[in-house]
Amino acid sequence: MGKLIGRSQKMQELFKMIEVVSATASTILITGESGTGKELVAKAIHLNSPRADQQFVSVNCGAFTETLLESELFGYMKGAFTGAAANKKGLFEVADKGTIFLDEVGETSLAMQVKLLRVLQERTLRRVGGTEEIPVDVRIIAATNRDLPTMVSEGEFREDLYYRISVIPLQIPPLRHRRDDIPLLANHFLSRLNASMGKKIDRLSDEALRRLEVYGWPGNVRELENAIERAFILETSIELSATHLPESVANNTKLKTAVSIPDEGFSLEEYVENLQKNYLEEALRRSNGVQVKAAELLGMTYRSFRHYMQKYNVESST
Ligand SMILES: Nc1ncnc2c1ncn2[C@@H]1O[C@H](COP(=O)(O)OP(=O)(O)O)[C@@H](O)[C@H]1O
Ligand SMILES: [Mg+2]
Repeated sequence: MGKLIGRSQKMQELFKMIEVVSATASTILITGESGTGKELVAKAIHLNSPRADQQFVSVNCGAFTETLLESELFGYMKGAFTGAAANKKGLFEVADKGTIFLDEVGETSLAMQVKLLRVLQERTLRRVGGTEEIPVDVRIIAATNRDLPTMVSEGEFREDLYYRISVIPLQIPPLRHRRDDIPLLANHFLSRLNASMGKKIDRLSDEALRRLEVYGWPGNVRELENAIERAFILETSIELSATHLPESVANNTKLKTAVSIPDEGFSLEEYVENLQKNYLEEALRRSNGVQVKAAELLGMTYRSFRHYMQKYNVESST
């Protein structure tokens, strides 16, 4: 089982929420882009809950056709359809007294949503081809990377189900919005690889760290994990260098930011100067006030770093 890592303000707040909601039996909706750690958070909630010694059953709702998903979730009776040779429990029954994780819940059909709503409201289900109402005691955690409110307004997701599952919404921010976590996660994956691959790499090079920190990570933590693993396998020295990082990460010299101009216009010069000043201060903070190091972090000579410090009146103490 993976441990949840994060020191950013946003993750610290999430950890607090996890602790609070774990104690309850409430239904939870976890939202976030792909690879942000939705499944890991769901598991963490289960393991912190009174149901921890019972099953955690994970279902990817997007991976089945509607009929298959129905028999997976609700089970079936012998003879319900061709190939139903014996009675079979569905995953809701398997998860009885435990937790069921409905991943990619936004991918379910409207017909399936009616069936899910029924279990949520009645806490009973009927197997495919069955007549008996079977009671189930499950904690439901749903997750999606889709925008459910928009889907509701477009008639693609049932509003009543949305309100049922979003009793407690947990939002996991994308990795690019919590860059503080990047070095921590990278080192976490490095030590995990050291432990499992029978090879020892002491640290990430400064250059590798810098590349990791400025990259956009559209695939979030999963992409970072894969990038570190790839570099780890290819690395032959005791330091993980930037050379073996994937092309997109290694060659990303610029932070790509979306720009927008307010209707009334604005002063680009002032904006850029302000930005420069902020970066100077951040670099100094990161390098504990060591100016040579700060200059290096910003790809500047010490001379021009000093020049800008004087220009913007930046203090060298941290
Ligand atoms: N905060 C975190 N700390 C440690 N590992 C993480 C964290 N977030 C995600 N991961 C790892 O990243 C990968 C993707 O996480 P996952 O929960 O499958 O994401 P999602 O379900 O949102 O696509 C997994 O291998 C997971 O262990
Ligand atoms: Mg997932």
